Amino acid sequence: MIFGATGDLAIRKLFPSLYRLFERGRLKKFAVIGVARRPLTNDGFQKSVKDSVINALGDKENIDEFISYFYYHSHDVTDSSSYVALRNLANQIDENYNLEGNRIFYLAMAPEFFGPIALHLKSDGLTEVKGFKRLVIEKPFGKSLESAKELNQQIRTAFSEEEVYRIDHYLGKEMVRNIEVIRFANAIFEPLWNNRYISNIQITSSEILGVEERGRYYETSGALRDMVQNHMMQMVALLAMEPPIRLTTDEVRSEKVRVFRSLRRVESNEINDYFVRGQYGAGTVTDEQVPEYRAEPMVDKESNTETFVAGKIMIDNFRWAGVPFYIRTGKRMTTKSTKIVVQFKDIPMNLYYQPEKKVNPNLLVIHIQPEEGITLHLNAKKAGGHLDAQEVKLSFANTGIQAMNTPEGYEKLLYDCLRGDATNFTHWDEVAYSWAFVDKISDVWENTKSVNFPNYVSGTTGPKAADELLEKDGFFWWPVKNLEVDICK
Ligand code: BG6
Repeated sequence: MIFGATGDLAIRKLFPSLYRLFERGRLKKFAVIGVARRPLTNDGFQKSVKDSVINALGDKENIDEFISYFYYHSHDVTDSSSYVALRNLANQIDENYNLEGNRIFYLAMAPEFFGPIALHLKSDGLTEVKGFKRLVIEKPFGKSLESAKELNQQIRTAFSEEEVYRIDHYLGKEMVRNIEVIRFANAIFEPLWNNRYISNIQITSSEILGVEERGRYYETSGALRDMVQNHMMQMVALLAMEPPIRLTTDEVRSEKVRVFRSLRRVESNEINDYFVRGQYGAGTVTDEQVPEYRAEPMVDKESNTETFVAGKIMIDNFRWAGVPFYIRTGKRMTTKSTKIVVQFKDIPMNLYYQPEKKVNPNLLVIHIQPEEGITLHLNAKKAGGHLDAQEVKLSFANTGIQAMNTPEGYEKLLYDCLRGDATNFTHWDEVAYSWAFVDKISDVWENTKSVNFPNYVSGTTGPKAADELLEKDGFFWWPVKNLEVDICK
């Protein structure tokens, strides 16, 4: 059952992903009930599913067969009788398709409905099933630790922790999933993966788009809650965690939780030494003139909301003591790109150093998007003449046949949920620890108005203070543009 079946997420992501699973033979016994407020017939709903698939994937021969599995229920989320009607429809479909009482509830709608829906699902008998029941929920999971706890309590009255699949769509990305393989399947990386050999790690996720039509939501969220609390913190955890003893859901999650438990607590008076906030002003992005954030629809003309965050995260454990993890994310920046740069320490004695030609440190770059791959930056002898070192790059690009068949993030996550594999969903403990970390920052930022907003021009790499954050530690952000060139070739 997809709640919010006429919404943007269902149309753009969920229906095409379900189709791809169907096409690959991964959906055998299934039926989908689209649930939403507006009145719609089954035919009307099937037509919207068809349009969504064709828009995303082009014409498909078996599309009519696919949409025949879709049903529609017009629903009032506050009314018990509406749930009872939904239950009757679900039971009927269950019987017709021989679904063995297995049920997945996908809440693709505004978070204020998560709690009430979960409670109704239980009280109106939809969770009494013969098979398994699972709840999939989208972000945001609360807007602070307090509100997340409240939401969690409501959900947990109807579903156990094992039955809750909290989506973080970054965990569906091919190269985010690749982090643990790169780390744990290569004898040359894992021994170096610590504070003796790594000087710092940089994670950048930049976007070209502004907030567009999402001003109302974004004003209550900002980049900190929208990107850092979930996607950025998840990438930090995957880069920093210890090798799990097995690749089971519990083991992987418990290693990630240990990372969150080791995060250095930054006190209120130190927040601005560790974190930088920004808000975009007007500017030019891909040759187009764009307005400042404060002029976007549904945004307060004097908004104090950040559209950019850079930060230094310290993990105070034996492996990472002293190694900064720098994160940076923002809207209306130069380029749409997510990359991780692992910078290794300089060699102890540089034989090849000449004042005008410094030997570059080794870098391992993990390209998450839009290109997918890895690049290892090494030094090798320059051809001919002297023993001069020059930078060479070894690149692996996840392109070609393999990439064309690479399932989209949502497809992988839906498939995981169907199989009951919750490894790439966030456990409550991860959510709670990362909210506790982020709350400290938002408490300070919400209570102190930034005097210099807007402080970066649209189409740039963010405010100057983000560069100074690294400069004071003797580092700089590796320019995303320069790192891109190789892998694209
Ligand atoms: C979402 C945020 O979680 O991630 C959006 O709410 C953001 O504001 C998006 O644009 C970025 O995702 P991706 O996959 O495009 O990097």
